[in-house]
Amino acid sequence: MRITLKSQDIGYKIHFGDLPKLTLDKKVLIVTNPKIAGLHLQTLLGQIQAKEVYCCTIPDGEVYKDFKSVEAILEAAFIHRLDRKSLMIAFGGGVIGDMVGFASGIFMRGIDFIQIPTTLLAQVDSSVGGKTGINNSFGKNLVGLFHQPQVVYIDPKFLNTLPKREMSAGLAEVVKMAVCFDKEFFRFLENLDISNENNLLTMIHKAVSIKAQVVKEDEKEQGIRAALNYGHTFGHIIELQSGYGKYLHGEAVGIGMMMANTLALALDLIKQEEFDAIKALLEKFGIPTTYAIKNVESFYESFFLDKKTLDARIKFILPQGIGNVCFRENIPKALVLDILREFM
Ligand SMILES: NC(=O)c1ccc[n+]([C@@H]2O[C@H](COP(=O)([O-])OP(=O)(O)OC[C@H]3O[C@@H](n4cnc5c(N)ncnc54)[C@H](O)[C@@H]3O)[C@@H](O)[C@H]2O)c1
Ligand SMILES: [Zn+2]
Repeated sequence: MRITLKSQDIGYKIHFGDLPKLTLDKKVLIVTNPKIAGLHLQTLLGQIQAKEVYCCTIPDGEVYKDFKSVEAILEAAFIHRLDRKSLMIAFGGGVIGDMVGFASGIFMRGIDFIQIPTTLLAQVDSSVGGKTGINNSFGKNLVGLFHQPQVVYIDPKFLNTLPKREMSAGLAEVVKMAVCFDKEFFRFLENLDISNENNLLTMIHKAVSIKAQVVKEDEKEQGIRAALNYGHTFGHIIELQSGYGKYLHGEAVGIGMMMANTLALALDLIKQEEFDAIKALLEKFGIPTTYAIKNVESFYESFFLDKKTLDARIKFILPQGIGNVCFRENIPKALVLDILREFM
């Protein structure tokens, strides 16, 4: 598969299946974390032929997706004397991918990087599309830049070691794409047995093709790409308020989709049976659908920290039936609070 970007007349390759031999005539810095290194680094090193290969590990976890870790990556790059022609490889989940994308985007004003995602979430979503960044005390992904990878290698074999909970978190992003863009894909997921490797690859391929199409249309998120934030407006607040780490990103997004669906139901954008079908699919994949908000007012206030909340107007991304999505602003605060109270 090739992803093309309207704005730049460039594109890059997304490779599916066994990780091929990578012959790279340059210095390479692999960035990963100790867990992934322990499980899969030897496999990766066995496939790389390069001038010099270095490896840098960042502690595991969303809490480390911060400036300090980016500094550590940059420091490793300087210590090993990487230059403008060198390459970084993001080897891990979305946390590593987002940080390496950012670090490579600012190192010497930007060098190439490759994504080798090892979680389902990263394979179906975060490794494709060029959004990079880190969190800070004000919220998720508030600092970052658009930096497209040179190539993405999606090898489902890496998922063999992924814990079940992490698989579910990745499936939340898959459900997101189906609900927003593709009713047929939604039906496919309802009948899917993901323990079958071929089915899994078909699912990943379909999810990536949806994401690639959306990014092609709207790389910088001025329009339709914002739909990929369905469930995220709520989900980011859940992640922030519960302290990064309690809920996995995909789990928070699952709950966030339920909140968005509750609002969509109240606005007659979806029917009760569609609401129930989405809930059932999330549950089938082991994604949480319930949450206890402590204080609805402070939850509401948090919307205004989101970088997508322009001019103090909250833009809600809501399903319109299954396979369709719409944006709604100017929803009365009282209605939003009513919806939030259903999650107390
Ligand atoms: N840039 C984007 O477009 C985009 C899109 C969606 C999500 N994200 C970001 O992605 C992040 C979430 O990514 P994630 O869910 O991959 O989390 P993650 O990177 O924290 O990985 C989840 C866990 O799985 C472990 N792991 C990774 N690969 C493994 C393997 N093969 N076997 C066993 N364990 C493995 C990791 O060490 C970690 O403990 C969030 O920070 C989110 O903001 C970015
Ligand atoms: Zn997400």
